Amino acid sequence: MKKLTGPKKIKTAVFISGKGSNLNNLIKFSKFKNYPYSVDLIISNTNKAKGLKYSKKYGIEKKIISYDKKVKSDKKILYFLKQKKIKLICLAGFMKILSSNFVKKFKGNIINIHPSLLPKYKGLNSHIRAIKNGEKFSGCSVHHVTSKLDSGKIILQKKVKISKKDTAFSLAKKVLKIEHLIYPAAIKKILN
Ligand code: GAR
Repeated sequence: MKKLTGPKKIKTAVFISGKGSNLNNLIKFSKFKNYPYSVDLIISNTNKAKGLKYSKKYGIEKKIISYDKKVKSDKKILYFLKQKKIKLICLAGFMKILSSNFVKKFKGNIINIHPSLLPKYKGLNSHIRAIKNGEKFSGCSVHHVTSKLDSGKIILQKKVKISKKDTAFSLAKKVLKIEHLIYPAAIKKILN
């Protein structure tokens, strides 16, 4: 990723599928002077994503692209990214796997947050699996995206303790809190 020069912020697109709490948090941090990015585009694969409301709230353009037909969707997404001069993509609860062709085009410039201490518990339902396996800790990881699921180089990780009382729901809530701490910090780390 190109180093920042001067006060210019790196234009970023955030991809979502759901609630968008990470999206909201990334936007909030982007307003601070010392966070070197701006959120200029929101992409969702579904119009049901609750996080789309942040488009209106913050006046950020949104695009809904189903990502069922990957070749066609890739073309559309790449067009919008170019139009908006997007240099970094942040996946934030985006529940589709990007095609390897797409990942190649944005090599090194796509990052993701995953709710586990990678390389443990890649894929779905990481909280239930961590609890069932009797793990003492869980956490979250921000990593570079490659064409292999949840496998790119890790940028930042943070741990939380799993208590005996934790359910998948309570653990997800705990982890989400620390996701909000490390995602903006990870962006800062790769851009500075
Ligand atoms: C977050 O916990 C994120 O780590 C996870 O989805 C949630 C989205 O929450 N992502 C994945 O599981 C991707 N494999 P949000 O919509 O409130 O940001």
